[in-house]
Amino acid sequence: MALHDFPRYPLTFGPSPVHHLKRLSQHLGGAQVWAKREDVSSGLAFGGNKVRKLEYLVPDILASGADTLVSIGGYQSNHTRQVAAVAAHLGLKCRLVQEKWVPWEDPTNTQVGNILLSRMMGADSRLDPHGFDIGIRDSWKDALREVEESGGKPYPIPAGASEHHLGGLGFANWAFEVAEQEQALGVHFDTIVVCTVTGSTHAGMIAGFAALEDATGVRRRVLGIDASATLEQTRAQVARIARHTASLIGVERDLRDDEITVLEGWAGDLYGVPVQSTLDAMALGAQLEAMITDPVYEGKSLAGLIDLVGSGEIPADSTVLYAHLGGQPAINAYHSLWDPA
Ligand SMILES: Cc1ncc(COP(=O)(O)O)c(C=O)c1O
Repeated sequence: MALHDFPRYPLTFGPSPVHHLKRLSQHLGGAQVWAKREDVSSGLAFGGNKVRKLEYLVPDILASGADTLVSIGGYQSNHTRQVAAVAAHLGLKCRLVQEKWVPWEDPTNTQVGNILLSRMMGADSRLDPHGFDIGIRDSWKDALREVEESGGKPYPIPAGASEHHLGGLGFANWAFEVAEQEQALGVHFDTIVVCTVTGSTHAGMIAGFAALEDATGVRRRVLGIDASATLEQTRAQVARIARHTASLIGVERDLRDDEITVLEGWAGDLYGVPVQSTLDAMALGAQLEAMITDPVYEGKSLAGLIDLVGSGEIPADSTVLYAHLGGQPAINAYHSLWDPA
């Protein structure tokens, strides 16, 4: 099978916009930096990368006859907010498990941003004290059972939709979209920089670009920047989902090790807790480009990009594409980072 054989239910306005970050490129003085913006590509509750993944899950959800989407994430999960949005859009119910993935003690953490939006959209969002883990959780299995026991028909969506067998397809499609946009813009992106945590965003890109490489011979570097701070688990999950997605879309060879690159150095010690490089990157993106990033994900991958371009590790003759995956609603729970002294 090829990617276009899988049904896709459109949840976006169309291809996500691609634009040149001229002031950031000039400031860094090396490679030219562009961005592709998942944060502004859907009308569903501020969008983000999960919307694109969910486009490939919706046909399966509708075919299953489920009446309730059941998913899991941290208190400020972007993923659960996007599941709540898709449930509202489809007229389904939504049950969310929000675990204490981040030791961030701001009292607004359970009240504003993503969790507020999920509640507004009618999701049954319940807090759970468990800590960070990208694997399959008992709390999520319990929620699935509860929905069933109360007469509902749940549809399970794991954290980040990553462990779902179709979870990598959305970003395999992203790779094909990039190739079309390159033609239209007359530009070639030799390097992609993307934040990675539960893995299927990065893994889907790897699979999609592998299929394109086999068709066209064009090689690129897809650099995943770890923001999980549990590097080995994320690396293993990216590799597994990339191989699974590649075989789903008809890539007939095994993926090479150099196609699966998860870089460490910008996550800090803990998922969800920013470090100085995160704050510096967020400030630079905001002040040079009015491009808003969050302290959990995109601020960390932007910090990686800034260092890799600044050090020449991404060479000056490169054109690099920063995948902006959304996540801005969480900044409300991190207001103290910018509160005036
Ligand atoms: C804004 C944002 N960036 C990056 C990621 C990481 O994507 P993935 O979990 O597919 O690795 C997520 C979700 O986890 C996210 O919400």
